[in-house]
Amino acid sequence: MQTVQTVETLRSQVKTFKQAGKSIAFVPTMGNLHTGHLELVKVAKTKADVVIASIFVNPMQFGANEDLDSYPRTLEEDSQALAELGVNLLFTPTPEIMYPKGLAVQTFVEVPNVSALYCGQSRPVHFRGVTTIVNKLFNLVQPDVACFGEKDFQQLSLIKTMVEDLSLPIEIIGVPTKRESSGLAKSSRNGYLTEVQKQQATVLYQSLTLAKAEVDQGNLNFAALKAQIQQKIETAGLVVDYVEFADAKSLQPATEDSESVVLLLAAYLGKTRLIDNQVLFTK
Ligand code: PAJ
Repeated sequence: MQTVQTVETLRSQVKTFKQAGKSIAFVPTMGNLHTGHLELVKVAKTKADVVIASIFVNPMQFGANEDLDSYPRTLEEDSQALAELGVNLLFTPTPEIMYPKGLAVQTFVEVPNVSALYCGQSRPVHFRGVTTIVNKLFNLVQPDVACFGEKDFQQLSLIKTMVEDLSLPIEIIGVPTKRESSGLAKSSRNGYLTEVQKQQATVLYQSLTLAKAEVDQGNLNFAALKAQIQQKIETAGLVVDYVEFADAKSLQPATEDSESVVLLLAAYLGKTRLIDNQVLFTK
């Protein structure tokens, strides 16, 4: 696996792949890789001739009082895992390389409306930072296919919208959420949790399972389910950020007409913010 850090070397390597007629699958990450990320790489390998991954802790998507400085950085282990899986090229830029003029850039890529909902309510600048950096990375890597986790359902949805609205010639693939045996969704932020907290955090998955079982039995009273789940999460010692039933396509609040419905959860356990989701049905 070749590792490149500058825009020039990345562009020249991408050009070489393109001239050789190779299709490119791309997996953008912020590193501290776990089996969820590696699942994306495995899927990417089945989709194109060449896999390019990136590791970049993107300062633009972190709010002022978020965990940018403490976000885990484990480049050596990450590189080894990606090389073992057969990734062809790893791009590891610095903030200065991605934002040579600093973060006060003139041009952002933003998908309004949906960006302001759910995670966007407690993280107002987050999604604008995500869509801007993903667009920049797409322009550099020029992939045919890019893989994103369903774990970050709202992010995946925004990126699909961005690609459609801007006519980007890239197929976006959603990869199912990888979980611990306890049901806890794999996340780099799980590293902030103690063993006891990891146990407490399984209430999120249990809530998704409960909602799925209720909906499967015909209970579509989302307001009542929402109250029940909020209480269940708070009883386990977490502080609910949101519990929302959303239309899985538009991500607007679910209605009776929604063709498919996703349950989106976010809660704080101490200072750590955890998210999870599950599609409950597709008509
Ligand atoms: P990061 O949190 O590192 O996640 C990189 C990719 O891995 C995302 O597409 C995310 O949805 C996926 N992922 C994380 N946990 C997963 C799990 N348990 N199962 C399956 N997939 C999982 O998301 C980001 O980075 C950034 O916002 C990024 C898109 C790289 C832009 O900076």
